[in-house]
Amino acid sequence: MKKITVLGSTGSIGQNTLEVVRRHPDQFQIHGLTARGNVELLLAQIKEFRPHYVSVFDPELREAVQKHAGHCQVLSGPEGLVELASQPVDLVLNAVVGAVGLQPLLAAIKAGNHVAAANKEPLVMAGRYIMEEAGKQGVRILPVDSEHSAIFQCLEGSNHADVRCVHLTASGGPFYRYSPEEMRHISPAQAMSHPTWDMGAKISVDSATLMNKGLEIIEAMWLFGLELEQIRVVIHPQSIVHSLVEFVDGSFLAQLGRADMKLPIAYALNYPSRLTLSDERMDLATIGTLTFDKPDCKTFPCLALAQEAAQEGGTAPAILNAANEEAVAAFCNAKIPFLAIAEVVERTLSESNFSSAYDLDAVMEADRDARLRAQAHIASTSESTPLC
Ligand SMILES: NC(=O)c1ccc[n+]([C@@H]2O[C@H](COP(=O)([O-])OP(=O)(O)OC[C@H]3O[C@@H](n4cnc5c(N)ncnc54)[C@H](OP(=O)(O)O)[C@@H]3O)[C@@H](O)[C@H]2O)c1
Repeated sequence: MKKITVLGSTGSIGQNTLEVVRRHPDQFQIHGLTARGNVELLLAQIKEFRPHYVSVFDPELREAVQKHAGHCQVLSGPEGLVELASQPVDLVLNAVVGAVGLQPLLAAIKAGNHVAAANKEPLVMAGRYIMEEAGKQGVRILPVDSEHSAIFQCLEGSNHADVRCVHLTASGGPFYRYSPEEMRHISPAQAMSHPTWDMGAKISVDSATLMNKGLEIIEAMWLFGLELEQIRVVIHPQSIVHSLVEFVDGSFLAQLGRADMKLPIAYALNYPSRLTLSDERMDLATIGTLTFDKPDCKTFPCLALAQEAAQEGGTAPAILNAANEEAVAAFCNAKIPFLAIAEVVERTLSESNFSSAYDLDAVMEADRDARLRAQAHIASTSESTPLC
């Protein structure tokens, strides 16, 4: 029995993870679960999976949850997340969204827990530091992002020196082939409705701006020890090929599958063995055609901004991430238009001082400073721009 803690169990990845566990009750035991504020779902999960601990982000919810949680102990706040992540288990699956996942990720690593990382933002902010800490502790960071899981699977058994580059596939999002004019009037509901994947709000908007692919480039650099130049992006609207590795002899290996996050989650949960998941099969003849296209960095400037931040290194990716988190939240709350997300990130990056330091203090300071700058840009944008 593998003992597992799921951080962010009420989210899209968290629920998919528990669905995999539900199908294999003889293989996994849930030690801990966490949510921000979705008490109703968390209580249902406590009843079904009987964890020893749960944590809610909002301390005011602790008592209300404890009342109905029986023997399960309820923690709260950022310290609750960190404490739960550091309790010994076989695997911590980190599926919270955003920078809030950084401290629990580090806590899990320092406690010697292997990690399945869905939460990509910490790797963008502090990838070098995280991988060094994981190396020191002998901790495995298993990718959950479908693209990174695909690369991880394609790299199994190969030499690092034989890799020429990797190709990250991107669906293109809901606004693939939109004209700049069409992009001016996009609502949060449109941006959150992804054509091929069913995901949480923030990653859906990131996919719509292509920032998600930019974040994934940085994530791939750290997870696989690659240079920026070794990571290409290709638009693949069918979301069947999840990514590819190109080797020095010119051959490619690709991983294919249905667009279902349970597949990469199951691979990370039970690595190196695979789990049976469902009888649903992918029928290649029905799919018929797979297409590949170049990304349009002019219409989707977030991709280029992320590449520039990756090139700069040091604290630049943390600044990019913080500005993007603030801008996406402002867009989702209808404070700024869709196109202003890239503008806020660009303006924040252009006026920030980058440091080559990558320790936690430097990263956290860059994150705080970038959020303040981004909030100022958001305030001035929302005063001057009429929303659609
Ligand atoms: N969804 C996907 O298909 C997918 C694919 C690849 C990678 N990822 C990555 O996986 C991560 C999770 O994505 P998601 O789509 O599952 O997000 P989501 O549906 O928004 O779920 C986020 C989870 O984190 C919790 N949470 C949110 N803010 C928090 C805070 N401040 N403190 C503590 N917990 C907090 C939420 O709790 P409540 O429910 O109580 O709010 C929820 O359990 C992201 O980093 C994303 O980039 C997602």
